[in-house]
Amino acid sequence: MVDNYGRSITYLRLSVTELCNLRCRYCMPEDGVCKKRHEEMLTQEEMLTAIRAAASLGVTKLRITGGEPLVKPNIVELCREAAATPGIEELCLTTNGTLLPRLAGPLKAAGVHRLNISLDTLNADKYRFITRRGELEQAIAGIEAALDAGFDKIKLNTVLIGGFNDDEIPALADLTRRWPVDLRFIELMPMYDSGDFGPEAFLPYTVVTERLPELQSVAQDGGVAKLFRLPDAQGRIGLISPVSAHFCAACNRIRLTADGRLKPCLHSADEISLKGLDEDGMREKIREAILSKPQWHGELNYYERSRAHRNMNQIGG
Ligand code: 5AD
Ligand code: SF4
Repeated sequence: MVDNYGRSITYLRLSVTELCNLRCRYCMPEDGVCKKRHEEMLTQEEMLTAIRAAASLGVTKLRITGGEPLVKPNIVELCREAAATPGIEELCLTTNGTLLPRLAGPLKAAGVHRLNISLDTLNADKYRFITRRGELEQAIAGIEAALDAGFDKIKLNTVLIGGFNDDEIPALADLTRRWPVDLRFIELMPMYDSGDFGPEAFLPYTVVTERLPELQSVAQDGGVAKLFRLPDAQGRIGLISPVSAHFCAACNRIRLTADGRLKPCLHSADEISLKGLDEDGMREKIREAILSKPQWHGELNYYERSRAHRNMNQIGG
């Protein structure tokens, strides 16, 4: 379906849980989430109904996000049914990777095509600091399990944070030589409660091209990342700039939160509830959401924070 600005909406991002086994400082508060009542959240059946309704309106790509989707008990079953939904051609999942040693094989077998795995540092102490509790070793073991499982594509996501990991840009980029993966540097977004960071933390993507003068440009794939490659690398480097150079004109996505709210735009407070509706009801609401997608997300910087009024774990990135 085409929105009011000529954008074809073919991509649904579904957050299946707000919960996470980590507490990344840019994503959620220290004490986790105030757990919502079970009845407020979408049931698995409602999630599948929403996926069917979206597919009937032309959505072909589905990404499962969180929180951390792999803490959801029945995630493999949900992925299997989502992958089998008529019209869904590509099923992707975003994860912090720590539970992949156990789940990479079952997810691949259930029909997940692609994985995005978060990795912000290669230093175990810094990993523990940024995630407030994680073990780097587990995330690395997860990436290796994913490589062994044979997904169509694996991307590593690094949130670029001034004073935290800008000194690791070359080491992180070098992972594209070690493994057949793409690595994307993502500008830190000023969310509702990612308040640990001062203005110096918000770096534009251009620091990556400055630090890596050897980057070669490659064919672009029409996605939101600007693509490059290190000489002799197996995968590409992507630069994602939601803050310094927004890509709203090419936005093809809608989001659905674990508590059943459609978000026409990541950074807007507008939400449309799907909770309790049948497939026809959901289809009408999804149509409404697509037609209310704003042209762009508005100014976004250290002083003008996201107007989403949710943290990232409640939206799914
Ligand atoms: N800014 C940028 N990216 C974020 N993510 C979460 N919070 C933020 C933020 N404030 C992204 C990270 C992580 C994924 C789950 O969501 O890329 O890997
Ligand atoms: Fe969990 Fe991902 Fe948020 Fe980190 S960024 S707290 S891993 S959902």
